Amino acid sequence: MSERLFIFDTTLRDGEQVPGCQLNTVEKIQVAKQLEALGVDVIEAGFPVSSPGDFNSVIEISKAVTWPTICALTRAVQKDIDVAAEALKFAKHKRIHTGIGTSDSHIKYKFNSTREEIIERAVAAVKYARRYVDDVEFYAEDAGRTDNEYLAQVIEAVIKAGATVVNIPDTTGYCLPEEYGAKIKYLVEHVDGIDKAIISTHCHNDLGMATANTVNGVLNGARQVEVTIDGIGERAGNTALEEIAMIFKCHRDIGIETNINTQKIYPTSRMVSSLMNMPVQPNKAIVGRNAFAHSSGIHQDGVLKNVHTYEIIDPKDVGIDDNAIVLTARSGRAALKHRLHVLGVEMGQEKLDKVYEDFLKLADKKKDITDDDILVLAGADRNVNHHIKLEYLQVTSGVGVRSVASLGLNISGEHFEAAATGNGPVDAAIKAVKQIIRRQMTLKEFTIQAISKGSDDVGKVHMQVEYDGQMYYGFGANTDIIAASVEAYIDCINKFKK
Ligand code: KIV
Ligand code: ZN
Repeated sequence: MSERLFIFDTTLRDGEQVPGCQLNTVEKIQVAKQLEALGVDVIEAGFPVSSPGDFNSVIEISKAVTWPTICALTRAVQKDIDVAAEALKFAKHKRIHTGIGTSDSHIKYKFNSTREEIIERAVAAVKYARRYVDDVEFYAEDAGRTDNEYLAQVIEAVIKAGATVVNIPDTTGYCLPEEYGAKIKYLVEHVDGIDKAIISTHCHNDLGMATANTVNGVLNGARQVEVTIDGIGERAGNTALEEIAMIFKCHRDIGIETNINTQKIYPTSRMVSSLMNMPVQPNKAIVGRNAFAHSSGIHQDGVLKNVHTYEIIDPKDVGIDDNAIVLTARSGRAALKHRLHVLGVEMGQEKLDKVYEDFLKLADKKKDITDDDILVLAGADRNVNHHIKLEYLQVTSGVGVRSVASLGLNISGEHFEAAATGNGPVDAAIKAVKQIIRRQMTLKEFTIQAISKGSDDVGKVHMQVEYDGQMYYGFGANTDIIAASVEAYIDCINKFKK
């Protein structure tokens, strides 16, 4: 008999904290519904006290999903807990996730406090949260660097105070797998009443060991894992959901099972990557473009003879369907709607009509439309409310000539034009934009996402622009990479606060 491992997804909290990955409420609901379809047990929907946007998202996600527990993060502070409880009022199953730093460095530098006082604050927060909900999770922030004996005292105290789940985060991604596993084992063996709570892992990937640490945590007694889609999250990210789900599926002999419908892994990954403008690295396990691509002759030969020679996972098991209908200019609305549905995107007739119109325009420019293209089209109306829009762009460039760009912008209904020369077509176009938008801004980062399937693919550009001491993130997608760059630049400017 297998034992059940609970999947706690924090894509919408730890994942969403990543600069540039912010979603609006409608997008968060879309992701939450997809996570529900994927079969996660808990959705950490946000940190309600942190902003009105987060508060509202927790409310709307609570209304939109039925089965998963909705969890809201707090510090060990009464006001945070009050606000979280209010945000969770519509959730069918609710959990408050409260906690405090327990490592000596957090106690001394973050709280200027003592070990005894931290235990008192932790216990008070758990008791206070239990006044609102029956399900309270406690996190011992920086548990990875917390002395095991003291950590056991904290965990014992919070379980006595009513914590139902105890989270042992390796906040800084510092632990070695053996060390993290031993930490969980120590708690199992030394905490009185540990059987009254579920132990949870929460591992960051700073040293590339998040998944290994999580697996070792489970092997030593943890029965909940905190994960994100594609492993997105603070800095180097969190443990990737898809890796954990597939590890325990491939290694059935371990005797751990999850509720994840693995065939929904790939569509979920594509949706999150597209909505958060966060490309998936090509060699990413399970969901990367190359995860199932065999390129060496020896491997290809083996796979053709028997697929099991080099493939431990059937791509169909994670929702990669090689036989997916290829959409072309002759595909109808129904085919587009079906593909969107497979990708986890549902939309009303009016929006479908608009996306179909854009789809036909794109299909005129390129032969086959990929899933990535469709997701870009589906999210393309994200900037309809922008007050600055690109009206036209013309660029001349080549070898041995200086690039020239002329463009027109519509700013709140007024038309502006400019032309500039530059060190290449993007430089020329950006200089032309700057002639119209006279602000002191600096382009800090410019990433063109790899074009995966041919020279007619939609190019995606991510940009970071610094203005007035703040960093702004922009995204553009177009079959013309120069136009995508200008769109990303304008997307940044549209977000300027003043
Ligand atoms: O990494 C961490 O410690 C966290 C906690 C807030 C759970 O994200
Ligand atoms: Zn974290």
